[in-house]
Amino acid sequence: MPNRLPRSDALVLFGITGDLAKKKLFPSLYRMAERDQLDVPIVGVARSTWDDSVLHDHARQAILTARGAIDESVFAKLAKQLCIVDGDYNDAATFERLAAKLEGIRWPTFYLAIPPLMFSVVAEHLAAVGLTQNGRVIVEKPFGRDLPSAIELDRILHEHFDERRIFRIDHYLGKEAVENLLVFRFANSFLEPVWNRNNIASVQVTMAEEFGVEGRGAFYEDVGAIRDVVQNHMLQVVSLLAMEPPLDKDADALRDEKVRVLKAMRPIDPSHLVRGQYVGYREEPGVAPDSTVETFAALHLRIDSWRWAGVPFYIRVGKALATTWTEAVVEFRAPPRMMFTDDAVPQPHANTIRFRLGKDDGVTLGVQAKRPGRELATRDVAMRVDFDHALGARQDAYERLLDDALDGEARRFARSDSVQQAWRVVQPAFDQPSPIYFYERGSWGPEEASELLGHHHWHQPGDEQSQI
Ligand code: BG6
Repeated sequence: MPNRLPRSDALVLFGITGDLAKKKLFPSLYRMAERDQLDVPIVGVARSTWDDSVLHDHARQAILTARGAIDESVFAKLAKQLCIVDGDYNDAATFERLAAKLEGIRWPTFYLAIPPLMFSVVAEHLAAVGLTQNGRVIVEKPFGRDLPSAIELDRILHEHFDERRIFRIDHYLGKEAVENLLVFRFANSFLEPVWNRNNIASVQVTMAEEFGVEGRGAFYEDVGAIRDVVQNHMLQVVSLLAMEPPLDKDADALRDEKVRVLKAMRPIDPSHLVRGQYVGYREEPGVAPDSTVETFAALHLRIDSWRWAGVPFYIRVGKALATTWTEAVVEFRAPPRMMFTDDAVPQPHANTIRFRLGKDDGVTLGVQAKRPGRELATRDVAMRVDFDHALGARQDAYERLLDDALDGEARRFARSDSVQQAWRVVQPAFDQPSPIYFYERGSWGPEEASELLGHHHWHQPGDEQSQI
C-alpha cells in the first residue's frame, strides 16, 4: 500500500453555507486560485435553497470581507470551479445528485465542516452511492468532546475511511511559525545539547486573545477553552517543543514521535489547573446565565521522560485578555555563578528563547551582554528575528492544509492515536472540574493563575520589548 495518496480530483464541502467556509475556506480557495493552484472542481453541499449564482455571491462577499479587495479575474477562476448541490444530509437523493455531479471523479475529498453528530449519516450515504471507496475526509477539531467520544468518532470514520484517508485539521499545524519549532530545533546543532532538563528550567506556552467569544457563545458553551484550544493547539505546540528527533520528515515518522511524547505526559492534575471566566461572558448571546464554562485555563503539565523529568511545562490560554499574543518561552537555568552582578542592579534574567507564533511571528533570544560603563556588569538584550522581514510572505494555515489534503500529504494533520493521547492528558479536567474564577476583561486572567507557578512567573509580551 503506497503511503501517499494520489492528488485528489474534486473537493466536496459539506457545510458550505457555514461560518468556517465563510471565514477560512473561501479566502483560502481564492488564494489558491490566485496562485493557479486550484486545479479541482469544488462542490458545496448544504440544505439551503441556494443555486450556483447565490453561492458565488456569498463566496465573493466572504472573500471581500476577509481581504478588503478582490481581483475579478482571480474570482472568475474560482467561480468557474464552484457549484452547489442543495439538499438535506438525511436524504439519499442529495447524495445521488452529488454522485451525478462527481461522475468521472476518482479521488474525491470530502470536507466535513458540519457537526460531528452528522458524520455517520453523511459517511453512510456517501458509501451507499459508492463515493467512499477512494474518497478521503477532512474533519475539524475538536475531534470529540473527551476520550470516549473521540474513540467513538474514530470508530465511525474508520468504518468507511482507513486512517490514511482521514485528515484531521488542527490549523496550528498549518502555521509556518509552529512548524518552525521542529525545524529550529532539529536543523540547528547548537540547541540539541542544551535542550533538556539539565539546562532548561521551564517552558511556557501562552495563547492570549483580546476578544471574547464573538457571537460563538452557543458553540463555546459546549466546548470551553480546554476543549477548544488546549487539547489540540497547545498540546501540539508542546509536543513539537518536547518531542525526540524523528527518524525523517515522513508524515508517520513525525507523528510517531509526537505520540511518544504525548504518551509521556501525565494526565493533568486538577489541583494544578486554574479555570477562569471573564466577567460579562454570562451575558453573551447563547451563554447560560449561570455558566461555569471556562474562557481561561492555566495549567502545569509534566512530562515523564528522561529529557524532561522535573521541568514544568506551563500552558495559559484565554479570551478577553490584555492582548492577542501566542508564544512559547523556553527559560534556561541561571549560570552556576553570577559574577557580573552588583547590589546596584537587579539580578540578570535567565536566558530565554521566545518563539512568537501569532501574527508577529519570529524568534527572540534573551541574553546577557555587558552593561556600558566601568563596571563589569550585565544587562538584558534581545536578539530578535521577525519572520515577515527575514523570510517574506508565507501562506496562511488553511490554504496550506487544504492543498496538503488534496495532495494526500498527511504530515500537518493529527493522527488518531495522538488525538486520543491528547484527550487522555486533559480528561481529568472534565472528570473532576476545578472551580471557576472570574477575571476582568483586558486583564491577564485570575490571580490564581500566578500562584500556579510557584517561584516562576508568567512571561508577558512586554518583557521582550523591555529587553530591546
Ligand atoms: C480556533 C478556536 O481553533 O483557534 C478559536 O476555536 C480561536 O476559539 C482560534 O480563536 C485561534 O486561532 P489563531 O490562528 O487566530 O491563533
